[in-house]
Amino acid sequence: MRTQVAIIGGGPSGLLLSQILHLKGIDTVVLEKHSEEYVLGRIRAGVLEQGLVDILRAANVGARMDQVGQVHEGFEISHMNGCQRIDLEKLTGGKTVMVYGQTEITKDLYDARRKMDGKVITNAEDVALHDLETTSPSVTYKKDGVTQTIQCDYVAGCDGFHGVSRKSIPSDILREYEKVYPFGWLGILSETPPVSDELIYCQHDRGFALCSMRNENLSRYYVQCSLNDKVEEWSDERFWEELKRRLPESAADRIVTGPSIEKSIAPLRSFVAEPLSYGRLFLAGDAGHIVPPTGAKGLNLAASDIHYLSEALIAKYDSGEEQLLEQYSETALKRIWKAMRFSWWMTTLLHKFPENEGFGDRIQQTDIDYLFSSEAAQVSLAENYVGLPY
Ligand code: APR
Ligand code: PHB
Repeated sequence: MRTQVAIIGGGPSGLLLSQILHLKGIDTVVLEKHSEEYVLGRIRAGVLEQGLVDILRAANVGARMDQVGQVHEGFEISHMNGCQRIDLEKLTGGKTVMVYGQTEITKDLYDARRKMDGKVITNAEDVALHDLETTSPSVTYKKDGVTQTIQCDYVAGCDGFHGVSRKSIPSDILREYEKVYPFGWLGILSETPPVSDELIYCQHDRGFALCSMRNENLSRYYVQCSLNDKVEEWSDERFWEELKRRLPESAADRIVTGPSIEKSIAPLRSFVAEPLSYGRLFLAGDAGHIVPPTGAKGLNLAASDIHYLSEALIAKYDSGEEQLLEQYSETALKRIWKAMRFSWWMTTLLHKFPENEGFGDRIQQTDIDYLFSSEAAQVSLAENYVGLPY
């Protein structure tokens, strides 16, 4: 088989890239290790920057988001002595975010790819990348026990943190930067009305908590937990009790509890791989970087990578111009590091760090005091939260 761009990974990054390129007449094949059902079973954050909203609309996958997504003009931060609304719209001169689940976006992308007869090969095993440093790379995979080869011009590594693409870059070229946080997030999904119209991020002595949502009858809540905790140790009752203790009193009084329909623990890490390209391979999304979820930047960063990468590939196929491809890694990394800084900062601001007794705690409280009392600090938070320009 031959294609122009072989895309490894059928998560949001890979599917979005294939959708955008297909609309420009560029042929792609997506190779996904798992089944579509498996990919759609994963629950991830759902706060979309305006840039991502615009990309989805331009890629003809924005219809359902525009129907059922919720525009949020602000969110709240609570801590022991009070609550502060971050008025995104006012602080950024009119910008907002869209709340629409990542699982829904991925579903919309799978549907769109099917409608356009896009080539998405699921259950592709043993994917391997070859001859990346030549002008004729290829990708092999096994499907139904038979090994297949795809010849291509370029390979897009969109296969997430655990994929093969990043590992195909020689170790003397690849540099990895990582920070692992000493806690996790225990999250639940529950078919109850959200406690508030807007997200509430809570800093508390007992640990961080977050009230989020998917729609008017589907709530998503998180509490900071120990990395040693097991999901089985957290009954729904224990979760609701702990959440209530960390929320502002008014919210704790209002919250509607119910059975969880999903419950999981996720570790938090910051990770960046450099460079994001090697020969004819380009990494995008979680394959190249991971942010802790506190700033809701994971999917948004993946989308900005796909924006830069698709523009670069389109320029190459339209006019033979290779400069954007050559600059892809550098261009994408500039924005990635800014989102890394922001996600690290918001995580540091709001979580209880076991090693932080004393000085660290006081600095954290002062950081929050400063944020609550300074419009300049709020503008900086808001500007980053709605998304820096591409
Ligand atoms: N071969 C083929 N596919 C693979 C391989 C492999 N060896 N390894 C992993 N994959 C697939 C995974 O099964 C997954 O479906 O690649 C896909 C990667 O998807 P994600 O992990 O969702 O990563 P990405 O598409 O970059 O999405 C960006 O935004 O909110 C964040 O972390 C969140 O997933 C989210 C990310
Ligand atoms: C979520 O809704 O899952 C969510 C929202 C905001 C975040 C992280 C997760 O910062």
